[in-house]
Amino acid sequence: MKINKRLKTIGDLVPLYSYPLDIGCDHALLSIYLVKERGFSKVKASDNKSGPLKKALDNVKFYKVFNKVELVRKEGLDSYSDGIDTITISGMGGLNINKILDDNRKYLKNINTLILSPNNYTLAVKRKLIKLGYYIDNEVLLKENKIIYEILVFKKGRRFYSYKKLFLGPVLMTKKDSLSKEYYESLLKTKISLLKALPKSFRNKIRVTKKEIKYLEEVLM
Ligand SMILES: C[S@@+](CC[C@H](N)C(=O)[O-])C[C@H]1O[C@@H](n2cnc3c(N)ncnc32)[C@H](O)[C@@H]1O
Repeated sequence: MKINKRLKTIGDLVPLYSYPLDIGCDHALLSIYLVKERGFSKVKASDNKSGPLKKALDNVKFYKVFNKVELVRKEGLDSYSDGIDTITISGMGGLNINKILDDNRKYLKNINTLILSPNNYTLAVKRKLIKLGYYIDNEVLLKENKIIYEILVFKKGRRFYSYKKLFLGPVLMTKKDSLSKEYYESLLKTKISLLKALPKSFRNKIRVTKKEIKYLEEVLM
């Protein structure tokens, strides 16, 4: 089936034999990919708007996976049902992802794996997930149409991270490949521009940004 590199990469990170729920599914192509290309027999996809769900329904019919992809129109984690152990959320702002998980944290009791790809506020998402009792199991970068996407895989369990590790990514900082170098270089540029633009009165923000620039320079050495 036709699927972009970003969604395929997310789909390939979903553990086999799990029961996944894709929140904010839009077209539902991720769930359809799991059924068509990875052999999943039961997946769930949800969205809180009717337009996306109509698209999802059309795609589910087109790919003839009606009996394996359950579609629901619900807000965030309200779409949780018994047996679901994996959650994917991608293509949304990090603060929206945090709100979805925080609003209904009771449903996270049985969730062993979360695969999240926020559009922004990645550090805030990492912090939230750690607060909710997860650790960072993997961090995957991919580049598509000149954009570098970050995919975070969280597993249930507690781990302590220094600010440096959390900021750079405890897994990503060990990868040392050309894409992670490009990612860190781009982040460094952003942080240097930010530092130049910050008014002198933003003392704390200046201190944190300087620290982040130092960490980025160290990882790029
Ligand atoms: C930009 S699309 C991303 C679609 C897909 N996940 C992807 O990565 O390509 C975001 C989708 O999330 C849905 N959404 C946003 N907030 C939501 C929420 N709180 N609960 C459920 N769906 C939500 C939107 O309706 C939209 O269809």
